[in-house]
Amino acid sequence: MSLKDKKILVGLTGGIACYKIPYLIRSLTKAGADVKVVMTEAATRFITPLTLETVSNNPVAVHMFPAEKFISTRHIDLAEWAELVVIAPATANVLAKISTGICDDLLTTIICATPRPVMIAPAMNPGMWQNPVTQRNVATLRELGYLFVGPEEGDMACEHVGMGRMSEPQKIFEAIQAFFQTSRKKKALKGKKVLVTAGPTREAIDPVRYLSNHSSGKMGYALAASAVKMGAEVTLVSGPATITPQPGVHLVSIETTKELHREVKKYFKGVDCLIMAAAPADFTVVHTKQKKIKRGKGTFELSLEPTVDILKDISKIKKTNQLIVGFALETDDAIANARRKIKEKKLDMIILNQPGPDSGFGTDTNQVTILYKNGRAVDLPVMRKTELADSILEIIAKKL
Ligand SMILES: Cc1cc2nc3c(=O)[nH]c(=O)nc-3n(C[C@H](O)[C@H](O)[C@H](O)COP(=O)(O)O)c2cc1C
Repeated sequence: MSLKDKKILVGLTGGIACYKIPYLIRSLTKAGADVKVVMTEAATRFITPLTLETVSNNPVAVHMFPAEKFISTRHIDLAEWAELVVIAPATANVLAKISTGICDDLLTTIICATPRPVMIAPAMNPGMWQNPVTQRNVATLRELGYLFVGPEEGDMACEHVGMGRMSEPQKIFEAIQAFFQTSRKKKALKGKKVLVTAGPTREAIDPVRYLSNHSSGKMGYALAASAVKMGAEVTLVSGPATITPQPGVHLVSIETTKELHREVKKYFKGVDCLIMAAAPADFTVVHTKQKKIKRGKGTFELSLEPTVDILKDISKIKKTNQLIVGFALETDDAIANARRKIKEKKLDMIILNQPGPDSGFGTDTNQVTILYKNGRAVDLPVMRKTELADSILEIIAKKL
């Protein structure tokens, strides 16, 4: 991904890993970013400002009160100029300072003043990293929303082996790219309303037994989380599941297919897109017993009747600017059946689960084929459900 015109402030603190930072800055400038560098006094002992000025093509700032050319608000200007601040390498000392709000040099003052996200690449000896005080500072910073890349396990300049090595410049570069990619994606569904359904439904046989299926809700919850992260207003209608929804998701809990139908109908009118990832029971019990059915000697018959076909019913009130995405799990004639469903239920696309050891109910991964209403079919590789959710929402965002 290009980083053209992205404004990135790189802060160096006093660790041996400073020698790797010119490689990071080169990758950033090659990708089109505008990079400015701030160093602590200790960092200048490890690498010269001249080297960093040369690779960044910008003046490097070190002092809060420089003897030459004093600019009174430089700390605020830099704090507000940056779209992202990256501290690499980050010493134990700087973690301690920023976690308590100390600003006793230019870099820590900028970090205190910046309204922008700060990404930290810690680098230190394993003893310093494992120190409970450092761990407490890291936990505080994580809780406050600071982003971390690394550290990693490996051999150190101090000849120790363990946790605390700075992530390689390439990895930090990729984390920066991912950050900008996510921020771009974050806006893709801004102002849109998305309705997602998830999980199984339960059809009561008697007060203690029910008919259901193996759906865990993982796919639907992942879709709701992706939609929220992309800026959508999300309602998730979910059957029984043990997953905590992403903060920001409006959760509506249901149990039966009839309740699912009622809630989908209620919310569908006001949304731009419905993603039907729930696995509602296709049959319900004709006469639910009010008392627990006792074990008998002979066989026992249960009369079932079909439940309402929710998508077919919703398609009747679908407006042209609304999008409906269905999910299907078929064991035979999968593609032909999915294509028939697209037509019958006026779907814009259908996600066909390909059953397998890494796919379907309960797994963390899924393998799907996406079928579009124009007949196009796209096979996707096995992916984590969270990644698949991102991909599906990106397609939806483009269509909306
Ligand atoms: C050779 C050498 C290597 C150092 N490497 C690290 C390091 O990797 N990580 C760290 O936290 N401190 C390291 N230190 C200690 C810091 O430089 C020291 O704590 C300093 O006060 C950090 O200041 P700063 O956070 O303002 O840059 C090292 C010191 C020396 C002399």
